[in-house]
Formats: sequence, structure tokens, C-alpha cells
Amino acid sequence: MIDHPLVAHKLTRLRREETSSATFRLLAEELVTLLAYEATDGLRVQPVTIQTPVSEAQGVEMADPRPIVVPILRAGLGMLNGMMKLMPTAEVGFLGMVRDETSLLATTYADRLPHDLHDRQVFVLDPMLATGGTLVAAIDLLLSRGAREVTAICLLAAPEGIAHMEEAFAGRDAVVTVVTAALDERLNEKGYIVPGLGDAGDRLYGVV
Ligand code: URA
Repeated sequence: MIDHPLVAHKLTRLRREETSSATFRLLAEELVTLLAYEATDGLRVQPVTIQTPVSEAQGVEMADPRPIVVPILRAGLGMLNGMMKLMPTAEVGFLGMVRDETSLLATTYADRLPHDLHDRQVFVLDPMLATGGTLVAAIDLLLSRGAREVTAICLLAAPEGIAHMEEAFAGRDAVVTVVTAALDERLNEKGYIVPGLGDAGDRLYGVV
């Protein structure tokens, strides 16, 4: 959990019901950039020798293969720009998942990901870690393609979602990390995070 006054300030504005979609999109983007800074602290780099205008210097650059960023459609799309600002050379894959509002089960409707994710550091973007059903299904798919380092960036998380993630990935041959701006109280009977911010997709894009 990122404990930072700017993150807390932006998250509070994001939560307000009177915040417009336009402002919500902007705040979500800014928040993701702040979260991404923390989420990428284990990013793999390789040494490189460069020439400055003054002398030769040793530095680092992002290692190959490049990391891959995976926004989960639809709401994860609202986090993509904020992430790519920090890692413009990362590759982007898309995963479309929809949650049945009655069963709360996630199904995949779009898969635009590489088939081989061995050695790739993967950053999954999903704003709301609620029951965890969507994120667990998404990360299971990534692990089945060989990913072993997966970091999920979520604006908000519920204890139920964190518990589901721990249960699903504890003891697995992979490092799965969740980075979030806040851990809220609970889920309500409709599976919404309380106090939360409502339906992230609707707030980003308007109700469809
Ligand atoms: N998805 C959302 O968009 N909001 C919630 O509170 C829970 C799941």
C-alpha cells in the first residue's frame, strides 16, 4: 500500500461522487503514475556504458526482454496512459474480462497477449481489487504462459480481494505483488468496495 500524501489527496478526489468523468480520468492517470513508480522498483535493468558530453559513464537501461503492461479492459484502460508515461518503451498486451454481476465470476472476451511470457516482467492494470475474481483469472492466464513476476497495480483493494489473491498464489512458483493506493473496509452485497468509488468503468467512461 502506498502511503503518500499526494496519493491520498488524489484518491480522495477520485472517490468523491461529484467528481466528473473528465476529472476522474485525469486523477486516475496521475495516481497510476505515482503507483507505478513504486510498482517498478524491481524493474530489471542492465549495465550500459554511455558517453556524456564530458566523459564516458556507466549507467543502466531497461533489460531485454522488455516488460509488458496489461490493462484489463474496460476499466484498466483508464490506467494505461499513466503507466506508459513512466515506461514508454514497455510493450502493451490487452486482456478483456467481464464480471457477471450476479455470479461475480470473470470470463475472458479478448486476449491480445503474447503466447510466451517466460522472462517477462508483467504489470497488470486493474483499478478495483474487489472479490479478486477478475485479477486471479487474469494472473492465472499470465502464469500459464510462463510469466513468473507479476505486479498488479490497483487503485483500491478490498480485504476479500487480497485474501483471494493470497489463497490463489501462495506457494505457487511465481512472485505476485499487488500495489494499491488504499485498502478499504469491505465489499457490499453487490460486490462493490466500501467506501470505494463506485463502478470504475462507469466513472471513467460514463454508464453503458
Ligand atoms: N468494480 C468496480 O468498478 N467497483 C467496485 O467497487 C468493485 C468492482
